[in-house]
Amino acid sequence: MRLPPAGTIEIAPSILSADFGKLADEIAEVTAAGVKIVHLDVMDAHFVPNLTIGPPVIASLRRHSDLVFDSHLMISEPDRYVEAFAKAGVDNITFHIEVVDDPEAMVSRIRDLGCTVGVTLNPQTPVEAIEKVAPLCDMVLVMTVHPGFGGQQFMPDAARKIADVRRIVGPNVRIEVDGGIDPDTTPIVVAYGADTLVAGNAIFGRPDRAAAIDAIRRAIE
Ligand code: DX5
Ligand code: ZN
Repeated sequence: MRLPPAGTIEIAPSILSADFGKLADEIAEVTAAGVKIVHLDVMDAHFVPNLTIGPPVIASLRRHSDLVFDSHLMISEPDRYVEAFAKAGVDNITFHIEVVDDPEAMVSRIRDLGCTVGVTLNPQTPVEAIEKVAPLCDMVLVMTVHPGFGGQQFMPDAARKIADVRRIVGPNVRIEVDGGIDPDTTPIVVAYGADTLVAGNAIFGRPDRAAAIDAIRRAIE
């Protein structure tokens, strides 16, 4: 599975707000609603103050799903773990610029493992931090909340960085946005140039996931 080429708007449900007791079923539900990507939030209780899932859970999910597995590594030492995530079956690996000394080397490393690459930046991190590496990536992820938890309030100032990132990367790199994305904030980030919309609470926090996905789609029709 590969990330769809840039040029289409894609919704990537984040399982952070799903029922972890039935993850495979949750992913099947959003698959039936037509999404191509599922966003997997990996947290280490060090880079962020929360702990989630790692390679064993992802490897198990891989046996149940053909969606693009978009892993968001909120971990302090991604270089130590990218190989394990690639082996577990993720398709895209997004690392945080704040914890990587040689981002260009990290991009090559992830590509050599057979995955596409994303780079991400926290709300307080300036766009300049990713300026050099962003055009080398398949995707840039702009965080619109402080990473660590689902269901937080969208940060409009952080979202403005999407327009700067779009100027830097041009049309052929995906720009993903993560944090507080719902039918109200979706038109804002799409207008700035985002094309890959992560939504956790707005999808898995609702009883009817297909209706929740439709509501996001309708917001940009
Ligand atoms: C937050 C995670 C997000 C989270 C988004 O640290 O990176 O992917 O699931 O959740 P919502 O959509 O609820 O803000
Ligand atoms: Zn995320």
